[in-house]
Amino acid sequence: MSLALDLPRLETTLRLPAQDERQQLLQGLLQPTAHIDPKYLYDDRGCALFTDICRLDEYYPTRTEAQIFSDYRDAIAAQLPNNPQWVDLGCGDCGKTLQWLDAVRPARVIGVDIAGEFLHNSMAAVARANPNLECIGLVCDFTQHLELHDLLAERPADAPVFFYPGSSIGNFEPRAAIRFLKRVRAHCGERGRLLIGADLIKPRAILEAAYDDASGVTAAFNLNVLNVVNRELDAEFQPELFRHQAHFDEAHRRIEMQLVARERHSVRLARHTRRYFGTGEHIVTEYSHKYSLDEFRALLAASGLRCSQYWTDPQEWFGVFLAEPA
Ligand code: AVI
Repeated sequence: MSLALDLPRLETTLRLPAQDERQQLLQGLLQPTAHIDPKYLYDDRGCALFTDICRLDEYYPTRTEAQIFSDYRDAIAAQLPNNPQWVDLGCGDCGKTLQWLDAVRPARVIGVDIAGEFLHNSMAAVARANPNLECIGLVCDFTQHLELHDLLAERPADAPVFFYPGSSIGNFEPRAAIRFLKRVRAHCGERGRLLIGADLIKPRAILEAAYDDASGVTAAFNLNVLNVVNRELDAEFQPELFRHQAHFDEAHRRIEMQLVARERHSVRLARHTRRYFGTGEHIVTEYSHKYSLDEFRALLAASGLRCSQYWTDPQEWFGVFLAEPA
């Protein structure tokens, strides 16, 4: 289905009917260890809180990646195909893409995100600021379905560059990350590239502080997901009966974000469905995997992608990887 809107062009390939989405959400909450898909963290309030997280002293990934980009932008751009089709996966307000336009001079920009109205507004802002640039918004849950072949085929001469910054790849479990990266790989042809940011392994105290900041912004971000679930399912979570917890799971090399029940209570999840939570029982809301440089290159290799070059900061806290079809 395609929504014909004036400016910019907006297409949507959302697949799962809302009813199925709700069913998946409910099933996740009924598992022995309850879980909520992290995509529900990002309603309007969640997006605003995530923007605040990115400005926290403790949350180093955003500023570290930004520094790598600004230090090496020209060197990175020099490795990319000329005038590519720049595909920003999870583009949000397109702020990061805007900083690449001068260096990359893309033939067109395709912003991909799940939030349609927000995407339309972001792409419209990019189009207004760059009247000669073709801007397309693609509304889809690209973590589940990535289908851009027809769109990319409209400009067969211009190779795609997939831009996936922010270490969002860390929010996939490794096997799912490989499935996702293989789908990106399948769109690359011979000349396509992937420019991707990944958070690197570092001491536990730094990692845990980044996901449990002193001012409680990440706690508010995490707890807000219960309000989202209440709206989606007509459930009756009381967020004050849960507390935020983030711990680094050494074995899985990931931060695990949880909501822990402060006391034993039951929650109405849907019309005829309740769930009991014992004191200390938790809901998993997000994983954030951390890699070594070698591990991340191995993940790319397992996805059919060869890392041609990478850039990092002096402390090696964050990596930016350029990959091409192997
Ligand atoms: C979006 N993603 C890369 C963030 C992360 O670091 O995993 C989400 C986040 N969750 C809590 N703080 C930030």
